[in-house]
Amino acid sequence: MKKLVTLAALLLLSACSGQQTQATNQAAAPVNVQSLAGNHVVTDTIPAAEMATYPKKGSAISRNFAAQPPLIPHKADYSINRDRNSCMSCHSWDKAERMKATPVAKSHVIDAQGTLNGQNYFCTQCHVPQADNKTALVGNSYKM
Ligand code: HEC
Ligand code: HEC
Repeated sequence: MKKLVTLAALLLLSACSGQQTQATNQAAAPVNVQSLAGNHVVTDTIPAAEMATYPKKGSAISRNFAAQPPLIPHKADYSINRDRNSCMSCHSWDKAERMKATPVAKSHVIDAQGTLNGQNYFCTQCHVPQADNKTALVGNSYKM
């Protein structure tokens, strides 16, 4: 008998919750989401995006606010892995001058020899490349 009551209660509960979800579904307004690809149908052939081009070699991009990690004015697909940080082959304190690159900031090192702080190892965690031929995907009205 006890089992039967429990079963009946369970059935009633599931029936109720079922009705509830239906009611919520009916009330929900349609959501209009605009994808980044615009109004293209999935089967459309969309022309490939332009390849990124970067500012003339050797020029830094001006910063927009104090303490901004400067934008990378060149391609940034150099490998950064456990054994090797390719960015450091130009930006380390001992190589920067020869490579005509700015040495990593003082805030990135732990001694006078320019040993990189482990917390600054993954450069692209903070620095992003800035191509100059790309149209913005989203608007930006940021002001200082
Ligand atoms: C082949 C050498 C080379 C490599 C490798 C390289 N860079 Fe550069 N980088 C440069 C040069 C040259 C400049 C332009 C001069 C400057 O502003 O430092 C520059 C500029 C920058 C700047 C702008 C500095 C500023 O003051 O505005 C950042 C940030 C930067 N690089 C980050 C990186 C990161 C992150 C990597 C790895 C993904 C990397 N670089 C790999 C040569 C290199
Ligand atoms: C945790 C975020 C962070 C990481 C990781 C990081 N940076 Fe930076 N970087 C900054 C910020 C913020 C600045 C500007 C303020 C300053 O100079 O400390 C900066 C400044 C720089 C500058 C300009 C220095 C100058 O004197 O103008 C260079 C070059 C640079 N970083 C290269 C690198 C490279 C290469 C790596 C990887 C080895 C790296 N950064 C990792 C945040 C970061």
